[in-house]
Amino acid sequence: MEELFSKETLEYQLRTREIAQKYIKPVALELDLDQTYPWEIVKRLQDAGLMGVWIPKEYGGHGRGVMDLCVVVEELSRACGGLGVGFAVNALGSFPIILGGTEEQKQKYLPDVAAGKKLVAFGLSEKVAGSDAGSLICRACKEGNDYVLNGEKKWNTNGNAASIYTIYASTDPNKGGRGISAFIVEKGTYGFSVPKLEDKLGIRAIGVAELLFENCRIPENQLLGGTEGRGFMNAMMTLDRARPGVAAQAVGLAQGALDLTLEFVTNSNLNNATVSSSQGIQFMLSDMATQVEAARRLTYTAAQAIDANAKGVSKLAAMSKLFASDTAMRVTSMAVEIFGELGILRDTGIEKYFRDAKITQIYEGTNQVQRLVIGRTLLKEAASKA
Ligand code: CAA
Repeated sequence: MEELFSKETLEYQLRTREIAQKYIKPVALELDLDQTYPWEIVKRLQDAGLMGVWIPKEYGGHGRGVMDLCVVVEELSRACGGLGVGFAVNALGSFPIILGGTEEQKQKYLPDVAAGKKLVAFGLSEKVAGSDAGSLICRACKEGNDYVLNGEKKWNTNGNAASIYTIYASTDPNKGGRGISAFIVEKGTYGFSVPKLEDKLGIRAIGVAELLFENCRIPENQLLGGTEGRGFMNAMMTLDRARPGVAAQAVGLAQGALDLTLEFVTNSNLNNATVSSSQGIQFMLSDMATQVEAARRLTYTAAQAIDANAKGVSKLAAMSKLFASDTAMRVTSMAVEIFGELGILRDTGIEKYFRDAKITQIYEGTNQVQRLVIGRTLLKEAASKA
């Protein structure tokens, strides 16, 4: 596949691979244990100019789109799934501004994200509204020239590290999803706090937090796009562009687990015969490699379709996330099995891939939500042909 990459994509891949293998892989287990935010690595990604890969050139980015974002996320996740998603959520948090922000908002916020000076997080989910995002209850009331936010957000990846947050809140509960608006909230705004950081199974290198808004007053020019009621559609369009990033994280995790398994089987013994000479093991390795390659191709296809402004990207984005995350779970599980009892030991590093992979089936829309998106589109397409 790399032969089909543009010169620039290949260059991003190699630049990221170097950082990931040299600086992330050696400390991945430590980061997993400590759960201290990896600012040193973020600094390396900033210095390498990787933070603004997907941001348009006119706002200080590289204008490279979703394909190159995926290539970077894949390489990071191959070394550490936490770092992969910690990077990818900056795209998830900035896509709403790229897609729906006013010119003033784009000029104000995107250059700092592109330069890596500020991280940006995405606040849609709540305790009572996860898969059914349209039922969120966080409230934004207009008071004079301000909006006052009240409510909480759950599962906010990078919530403890971001400086900018895109937050979805209802400006008109009577209108359901059509009453949802998006806002840009800055860290340090009075009434905005991050009261809880989760202790997690995987992606432990980065934080997942709860956000709290208590009479948090923000100026009206932080209403995304300057128009109320466009939040739900903005969130859906954002997720269409971000889901291949989760797919890329899953591909990276699966590839990382396969790399480590190949290293293991070519260096160890089982009952005096090398593990790699066992046909059973070879069958497993073949299935793993085939599934990783299929997931990678589907992910790149979805990313390229988005970058080409193709129609119907929701279906492809959902398919890539569904297939790649299920692949990551299967492949990392097989990897742990090949390691045998050693597979469950932290020191071998293989169980971390398995733990990191699980969340890819859940966040940015559970795989049941992806099936819903795919199924609805299939039926619509069939109806339009009938
Ligand atoms: N693009 C543009 N518009 C869209 C759209 C899309 N992809 N999908 C839906 N819409 C529009 C519809 O056209 C409709 O518009 P009108 O009101 O004008 O008719 C409106 O949005 C409502 O659409 P639906 O009736 O399809 O909405 P729904 O309530 O049935 O929602 C759902 C369906 C797909 C399940 C949606 O709620 C969903 O995607 N849920 C999952 C949410 C999610 O992925 N959350 C992840 C949070 S982020 C995260 O996890 C990050 C992290 O930690 C890393």
